[in-house]
Amino acid sequence: MIKIKHSGAKYSSIVGIGEHIRTISAQSGTEFLMLNRGINMVENIDIRPIVGFVDFNSAEIQVYPPVKGRIALREAINKAFFKGEAQVGDIFITQGGVGALDLIFKTIDTQQVWLPAYYWGAYLNILQINKQKYGFYPNLDFLAQNANSFRGMTVLVCDPNNPTGLKFDDEMVLGAIRKLHSAGAVIVFDSPYRKLFFDWSTDFFYQRLLEFENLIIAESFSKSVGLSGQRIGFLHCSNKPFMDELAINLLYTTNGINNFAQILVEKILCEEVGIEAARNFRSNTVINIAQNIEYLIKRDLLANHVYQGQKPLGIFVIVRLSHQKLLENHIGSVPLNFFTKLHGVDLSQYARICVSVSHEKFTRFFNKI
Ligand SMILES: Cc1ncc(COP(=O)(O)O)c(C=O)c1O
Repeated sequence: MIKIKHSGAKYSSIVGIGEHIRTISAQSGTEFLMLNRGINMVENIDIRPIVGFVDFNSAEIQVYPPVKGRIALREAINKAFFKGEAQVGDIFITQGGVGALDLIFKTIDTQQVWLPAYYWGAYLNILQINKQKYGFYPNLDFLAQNANSFRGMTVLVCDPNNPTGLKFDDEMVLGAIRKLHSAGAVIVFDSPYRKLFFDWSTDFFYQRLLEFENLIIAESFSKSVGLSGQRIGFLHCSNKPFMDELAINLLYTTNGINNFAQILVEKILCEEVGIEAARNFRSNTVINIAQNIEYLIKRDLLANHVYQGQKPLGIFVIVRLSHQKLLENHIGSVPLNFFTKLHGVDLSQYARICVSVSHEKFTRFFNKI
């Protein structure tokens, strides 16, 4: 008999939805559009020209990586994300965004963690595993107006948001962060969709976040360069005692992040062929996403109570179609009640879909509805 420490966290229900759709697709021999998934499906990033730069027969690949990450990658991240203005010592490589978030909540001592009212379900499970209390805030205005009540607490910001795809104005986000930070709150900025949409050379947002010592950035290369299979991301924070303790947790949970993934991302950030591969991946992906969103707007299929006239920007949107109705039309989705505890609307009539898929395929399926 093995006795178990149950955390109360749940195995992902979204995985269950995917398995169900694959089963009915195989049984019926019908193609399904898997918009339940959270990945970019327009195209893969073409890494073939980059792989030539990697020497597989080297100690660099074959022996343990440095615990906090390879210096060359941390420097490349500093250049690409912070215009060289961060300290490399404040950047640690992690096992994707999930790895970063888990380490953050393993390390931080905080009264309560506040999540957006529409949240990515994994947040709750990671918090539960790490025995952190949580609550929900309605919007950025609320944070800015009630900043003082978040003293001693941690606020998570996800912008563009998963599941809604809502992107707030950068100045509004910074304004809310500034107020929270002055009030004594810690901010976790987990926005892995941002860098898919913004031009890296002209986006100075991360650089502007460097003024906040008690702000932790969790980032991922899963979405912005489409490498979710490589399980790689990073975190940044300039609070030294926090990072020192986090480094110990990083060592004993990972013993370093896969060297191949690190070198691959380094080449994507530094070599001209890598930069171009990432640029092509992003521009084709973003064009198709925009076309799909325009299509949904024209057909009045977006959940108006969520957007209230604002145009989504992320890889997800909430549509006013039920999971069941979409399934009948061979489209996978996730019911909205997986992402919020709000009441007031009949959540069963709404679902989250991923819009990062070829526009031709998207319209082929949606035109039947
Ligand atoms: C909001 C958000 N944060 C973080 C992640 C983490 O992604 P990964 O662990 O693949 O890097 C995801 C993935 O779906 C996400 O939606």
